[in-house]
Amino acid sequence: MIKVSASIMCGNSLKYGEELKRLEEANVDMIHFDMMDGSYVSNIAMGIYLLEDMNKATDIPFDVHMAVWEPSPFYETMAKAGADYLCIHPEAVRHIHRDVQRIRELGMKPGIAINPSTNHGVLREIIQDIDLVTVMTVDPGFAGQKFITSQLEKIKAIREMANKFNPDLLISVDGNINTTTIPQCVKYGADVLVAGTSSIFKGEDADYKKLVLEMKDCGK
Ligand code: DX5
Ligand code: ZN
Repeated sequence: MIKVSASIMCGNSLKYGEELKRLEEANVDMIHFDMMDGSYVSNIAMGIYLLEDMNKATDIPFDVHMAVWEPSPFYETMAKAGADYLCIHPEAVRHIHRDVQRIRELGMKPGIAINPSTNHGVLREIIQDIDLVTVMTVDPGFAGQKFITSQLEKIKAIREMANKFNPDLLISVDGNINTTTIPQCVKYGADVLVAGTSSIFKGEDADYKKLVLEMKDCGK
């Protein structure tokens, strides 16, 4: 089943409480929470206190994407703050296996985010230990970028690897996901769609419920 994970960074930051209510009414499956450290990516966004408060305000699971160098000192705090999925970048950690085990021990579901220029081969030794792969369809760091088409073949290759070694693995796509790019992503094997400025966060008057349904429909 196709899931929608709403990228809350793209919401109105003065009205996050209201945004969460609108997203609940729209039946989104997850909240995609982008943490950015100003070093791994050239942007700074979304801290731990914000996650803690948002988690108190909603029962929607949080899919946290750490675009952060050396995120390991924060895993325990992230678990306490309410991260359900915790996705890390293989380039940003010293020992991916150890980090994935630690994230699991703390009660979170580990995920790995793959940049457009990173080969999916990095997943082969770890795919059985994770619950989520986030395929970046833009370079991480900013909303509003253009979809990188070459990532479609990568989604397909990861789905084939998952069919063999971890059939329950969720594959999410992050970056410029809209009604034009969704059909291809789903055809190639994605099942979680990160919804940002390209699909649902279109201002005060946007009907999130309708837009979420459109996303799910065009992935059928
Ligand atoms: C990049 C972010 C973006 C964003 C999605 O690190 O994860 O992909 O939230 O938003 P749009 O739809 O603007 O690409
Ligand atoms: Zn993200």
